[in-house]
Amino acid sequence: MPKKENKTAEEKHIPLMTPYKMGNFQLSHRVVLAPLTRQRSYGNVPQPHAILYYSQRTTQGGLLIGEATVISETGRGYKDTPGIWTKEQVEAWKPIVNEVHAKGGIFFSQIWHVGRVSNKEFQTSGQDPISCTDKPLAPQIRSNGLDVIHFTPPRRLTTNEIPQIVNDFRIAARNAIEAGFDGVEIHGAHGYLIDQFMKDQVNDRTDQYGGSLGNRCRFALEIVEAIVNEIGGDRVGIRLSPFASYMESGDTNPSALGLYMAESLNKYGIAYCHVVEPRMKQAWEKSECSESLVPMRKAFKGTFIVAGGYDREDGNNVVVEDRADLVAYGRLFLANPDLPNRFELNAPLNKYNRETFYTSDPIVGYTDYPSLETTS
Ligand SMILES: Cc1cc2nc3c(=O)[nH]c(=O)nc-3n(C[C@H](O)[C@H](O)[C@H](O)COP(=O)(O)O)c2cc1C
Repeated sequence: MPKKENKTAEEKHIPLMTPYKMGNFQLSHRVVLAPLTRQRSYGNVPQPHAILYYSQRTTQGGLLIGEATVISETGRGYKDTPGIWTKEQVEAWKPIVNEVHAKGGIFFSQIWHVGRVSNKEFQTSGQDPISCTDKPLAPQIRSNGLDVIHFTPPRRLTTNEIPQIVNDFRIAARNAIEAGFDGVEIHGAHGYLIDQFMKDQVNDRTDQYGGSLGNRCRFALEIVEAIVNEIGGDRVGIRLSPFASYMESGDTNPSALGLYMAESLNKYGIAYCHVVEPRMKQAWEKSECSESLVPMRKAFKGTFIVAGGYDREDGNNVVVEDRADLVAYGRLFLANPDLPNRFELNAPLNKYNRETFYTSDPIVGYTDYPSLETTS
């Protein structure tokens, strides 16, 4: 293992490796594990192999955001993604969370409902998926750039049914705390149920959950409020992607949407707002763009996390320029279990393999990426 210098991260000019206090959580650095679906939770139950996977990516005082975790039976849209609505699932998360805690990590669970990004085969008794709309979704290519997924046209939720879904999110948050997680990240990004409500390309409702910007954001904010009341604002984060249009979920005025959410969230005193960079027009490639998250960063009073296409240099810059407090890394962390250490040492990085992002093997492409100790 390379010998460490005795200088602090400040002295070595590695802003990413400086400490940060996020509410009650004392973080030792700013390199966050982004939520990463890996589809290795057979039958929606977290598996023992996830203990090693998350443990490999844990550092003392590092923040990890778990893979998207389904809140209820209707929330499923992909094979073998973990859930957190049954006792069995909650129990199965415990040893995974315990191991992260044993190594000093801080672990949030990303709670998720896919909405119309689903198919009859994932729904109990072959029912139609639910959404804010009944507009169908065309087949999509996944973020590995390889798989094509097909969807069943959704059923539009009635106004009366919406409180039940809000309640499912609340119960999932309570279950996450019971499993030992330090908090939850509400998945409000990437074209899934909450994003479907927020975006005007999808939401065609005429009740109090559709039409104006305030109405479209109502569902998201009711979920935030319910969860804050259940587990406390210091344990709650939310992920948003106002500028993205994955899963045909775009908005005609993403700047206004992002700003409205950033300002509205202040009311609930949540721990963090985690936003995907506008340059991630596509889920897995960055492109040139003139839009910026700075207005949202300025409007939001809590911790601001950015994600999407970051490397070491870019991450250091965003911290030093105060455009974010923390930076979440997806593909680089997937392929480099010891990413914070590599950033500290400015060591070379392993390359990720898209072909094994979502394969079900409990080791290959999952826990077999080497860390520096194992390579040297
Ligand atoms: C394999 C894979 C799985 C992902 N799963 C999720 C997920 O469960 N929840 C989520 O919000 N984003 C998910 N994303 C998006 C990442 O969190 C991240 O925003 C994206 O990869 C861009 O960041 P990067 O350039 O650092 O990889 C996933 C991305 C990849 C590559």
